[in-house]
Amino acid sequence: MSCCVGGGGQPYDLTKRINVQEKRLINCKAVDVNQLMPLKYKWAWEHYLNGCANNWLPSEVPMQRDVELWKSNRLSDEERLVIMRNLGFFATGESLVGNNIVLAIFKFVTNAEARQYLLRQAYEEAVHTHAFLYIVESLGLDEREVFNMYHEVNSISNKDQFEMALTEDILRSDFNTESVENIQKFVKNLVGFYVIMEGIFFYSGFVMILSFHRQNKMTGIGEQFQYILRDETIHLNFGIDLINGIKEENPEIWTVDFQKEIEAMIDQAVLLEYAYAKDCLPRGILGLNSALFKDYVEYIADRRLERIGFKAKYGSKNPFPWMSEVMDLVKEKNFFETRVTEYQSGAVLNW
Ligand SMILES: [Fe+2]
Ligand SMILES: [Fe+2]
Repeated sequence: MSCCVGGGGQPYDLTKRINVQEKRLINCKAVDVNQLMPLKYKWAWEHYLNGCANNWLPSEVPMQRDVELWKSNRLSDEERLVIMRNLGFFATGESLVGNNIVLAIFKFVTNAEARQYLLRQAYEEAVHTHAFLYIVESLGLDEREVFNMYHEVNSISNKDQFEMALTEDILRSDFNTESVENIQKFVKNLVGFYVIMEGIFFYSGFVMILSFHRQNKMTGIGEQFQYILRDETIHLNFGIDLINGIKEENPEIWTVDFQKEIEAMIDQAVLLEYAYAKDCLPRGILGLNSALFKDYVEYIADRRLERIGFKAKYGSKNPFPWMSEVMDLVKEKNFFETRVTEYQSGAVLNW
């Protein structure tokens, strides 16, 4: 793997300038991964720039109103359960994603612009984990309860076990992406983390927490989730481009059996997510109930399937059309967010 890490032993002539056409997303043997330019995968650079336009820090979001409401008797036990379960799922889910990037994905992506994005994404996952520390501290929650929920609550543990199993093989010291079978394993990891974890598992949580926000409850947590949702939209888009790019460069991996395996993964994810929604919402609140989440998870899964070259299979309608409006609003923040300008002018003033 010497071409992936730089240093000695490269299989190519070091004095020869790179041929951009020889760049490859994985198994690149002909190009130095330390040379970002010339760019080949413009999408990776676009996602990187979009991420850079979205700088934010959890501690910039005021939490006082949330603290007052949390300490009052104006929240029902059911409402508290939804909030706690979502904090518990995301608090460690963000770390699983960050660790998977750094320990499993990064090494095998042999392209400089894609790695540039992965570095950015890993930082964003750290910011997201920071958000949960900040929320737990602000509300005075039991930190061990929140951060250990992925071992204690079955519906969370089952989702995370599903993800962690996909990392295991990639972490083995003798793993490489040379064979068709191993590229398939690697792509399954990407589908598991980008399409399923960030693209399906995160979305019911977004709906639940943003439902509070819409009703003017727990708006600090709601705002943090809006920022996270904005970042996650880009993570998902990058992941889909990466999966489709690897598929295009390695068409031999896309066998009928492999497609069935991916579809089975999505089926399993839909069931796991539905179980999680039932666990969060044993009785309905805020116009939400677990039956609606069955439709929502299926609707989201269909959209994700389409993006990686499958046909939609569930045919459910979106029971939360307001989420599309939230997504649009969140996207607009890319362009009108004042904070972005503040960061830039801050840097100038320091100079
Ligand atoms: Fe994240
Ligand atoms: Fe993410």
